[in-house]
Amino acid sequence: MSRIETEGLTKYYESLVAVDHLTFKVKEGEVFGLLGPNGAGKTTTIRILACLISPSEGSAKVSGYKIDKNPLAVRQTVGILTENPSLYERLTAQENMDFFAEAYNLTEPQEKAKRIRELLEFFDLWERRNDKVATFSKGMKQKLAIARALVHNPPILFLDEPTAGLDPESAKEVRDLMKMLSRREKHTILLCTHHLEDAERLCSRVMIINKGKSVVVGTPDELRNRIARKPSVQIDLKKVDPKIIEAARRVSHVEQVDVDESSSSIRIVLDDASEGTPAVVKSIVDAGGLVIGVYVHRPSLEEAYLKLIKEEQH
Ligand SMILES: Nc1ncnc2c1ncn2[C@@H]1O[C@H](COP(=O)(O)OP(=O)(O)O)[C@@H](O)[C@H]1O
Ligand SMILES: [Mg+2]
Repeated sequence: MSRIETEGLTKYYESLVAVDHLTFKVKEGEVFGLLGPNGAGKTTTIRILACLISPSEGSAKVSGYKIDKNPLAVRQTVGILTENPSLYERLTAQENMDFFAEAYNLTEPQEKAKRIRELLEFFDLWERRNDKVATFSKGMKQKLAIARALVHNPPILFLDEPTAGLDPESAKEVRDLMKMLSRREKHTILLCTHHLEDAERLCSRVMIINKGKSVVVGTPDELRNRIARKPSVQIDLKKVDPKIIEAARRVSHVEQVDVDESSSSIRIVLDDASEGTPAVVKSIVDAGGLVIGVYVHRPSLEEAYLKLIKEEQH
């Protein structure tokens, strides 16, 4: 079942097209990435889907509710982490959570206390619940902001640049947490980011957008395969001889074998690194090759991303 479904979603700001006919679907339990440079239209898309602003054209359904017909129902089913979440710095973590729980009509004391405890424990903030948010690190604040977005137990979570401005360690913590969330609570997550690392590690599918338009949609692996460069393996040998090269050429998945005689290594282009690498190494060893080292080079999603964005601009 699709949790999010958009059709030609468009937003104009006077003559600027911030979001340009975006059509996509996000399935239940999926972590879907909206990836693109600054100004691509990521935040605008999230704000439309969270019913904070309305689209100029097009339509969307969130949890089966149309955003224009049923914004209140949509808001109940989504939690949103905005770009610059503001917490009440002078209140404690617990008080911040209480405040937002009540804003979402979670007023029954036992249920509210249970939910807040569950979240603070999950986010590793329970011990600090009575400390003022002002004393928290950036990473802790970000975790609290995500916990807050989940207080009404929404099945869908919108996260706008959740690791932006965090030091690498806190960014990793937030990333691990998002992974746990999508697994444990089966949340459907729409993640906006310009960090490829986030997209690559977390998303089941990614849509790259640029200037409001969809450039490409696919799994991180599919996007990687879109760029011409295939994966390759460099194999260092004690000695290269023609028998070994012949043996490597005969292996399936091998497309090209080049010899670098000076350094006694060969470079093999494969159509599939995970299938081809063990097969080609075995075949070289069987042909009497003495293998010193094996290095797999896979084009990164970053290369794919930069290439696709660049093509778009021409
Ligand atoms: N309220 C607004 N008024 C005018 N232009 C806006 C407004 N919000 C966003 N924009 C413009 O729309 C484009 C997309 O912005 P945004 O969705 O924030 O991109 P992203 O989140 O991908 O960085 C940008 O060119 C931005 O300047
Ligand atoms: Mg943004």
